[in-house]
Amino acid sequence: METQNMPREQLGVCAEGNLHSVYLMFNANDGVEAQLRPCLANVAQYIYELSDQYADSAFNGFVAIGANYWDTIYGEQRPAQLRPFPAMQEGNRDAPAIEYDLFMHIRCDRYDILHLVANEISQMFEGLVELIEEERGFRFMDSRDLTGFVDGTENPKGRSRQEVALVADEDNQFKGGSYVHVQKYAHNLSKWNRLPQKKQEDIIGRTKQDDIEYASEDKPLTSHIKRVNLKDADGKSMEILRQSMPFGSLKEQGLMFISTCSKPTHFEEMLRSMVHGDGHGNHDHLMQFTKALTGSSFFAPSLDFLAQFAN
Ligand code: HEM
Repeated sequence: METQNMPREQLGVCAEGNLHSVYLMFNANDGVEAQLRPCLANVAQYIYELSDQYADSAFNGFVAIGANYWDTIYGEQRPAQLRPFPAMQEGNRDAPAIEYDLFMHIRCDRYDILHLVANEISQMFEGLVELIEEERGFRFMDSRDLTGFVDGTENPKGRSRQEVALVADEDNQFKGGSYVHVQKYAHNLSKWNRLPQKKQEDIIGRTKQDDIEYASEDKPLTSHIKRVNLKDADGKSMEILRQSMPFGSLKEQGLMFISTCSKPTHFEEMLRSMVHGDGHGNHDHLMQFTKALTGSSFFAPSLDFLAQFAN
């Protein structure tokens, strides 16, 4: 990807994993757009500067705007492919859409800093927005999901994180931005933990302890890996950058699934393949053990896009 003339990306979009995260979902009050635009510019700039100040704790984050709110706040200059979350359902597999106006995603290896920054952001937004949802994520063991399987292994690495996650020349005005999809999954861990390990491994398509990918011929068509490992019409792998983390407490726990990508289609196709399957009855068996409670679609613009509205 051409990096010359690339607007500055928001650093949380492609950042490496952290120990802690805070997710804040807001809806905006009516008629506040003129004040909210500079406020979003300030919050994004604040997050950007903290990445330097707290570099030792790998602080990062991003601000994203909901697909249904975009036109209200930024009018006609809309990212070419921004659209609502693709709600879908088949059998007992449900992927509902629950949209929010704004998503603040902040991560750090120090929980106290995150708490401080979350308070600060909330204060910067005072009178403009309402906090609808808050979750806190954490690293579990050696970057495992609460199912006990390592999550993130096949994520793009190095510079290909940017190539996968950021809009490039195809939409010049929104270069350096990213399409973001969020689903809060609540796991049924008692059901999952009753499964013998080999059955769990067959559902994921990798070994549990050592995180080794099954040989192609051994991967069940209903395994998670099989369902999400898709190719486009040219035979090229469809990729997304996952920024998911476990969240919750004993009452409700699971995975905050977060995908960032230069286009929404890859996530949409993967989710379709999980829920509706391959047309031969092979859907993702992982969905028997976890339930999507939310599904939201956002765009995280470049820092420079947001900054043009600073006052
Ligand atoms: C891979 C867990 C939802 C896309 C994986 C892996 C695990 C996992 C354990 C294997 C290790 C790795 O490569 O990261 C989960 C859990 C989910 C979930 C627990 C929800 C509760 C999703 C969703 C999507 C998705 C909703 C996309 C719509 C992917 C992709 C890979 C992957 C693209 C890499 C596949 C490969 O190239 O081998 N997931 N996942 N996952 N997952 Fe998920």
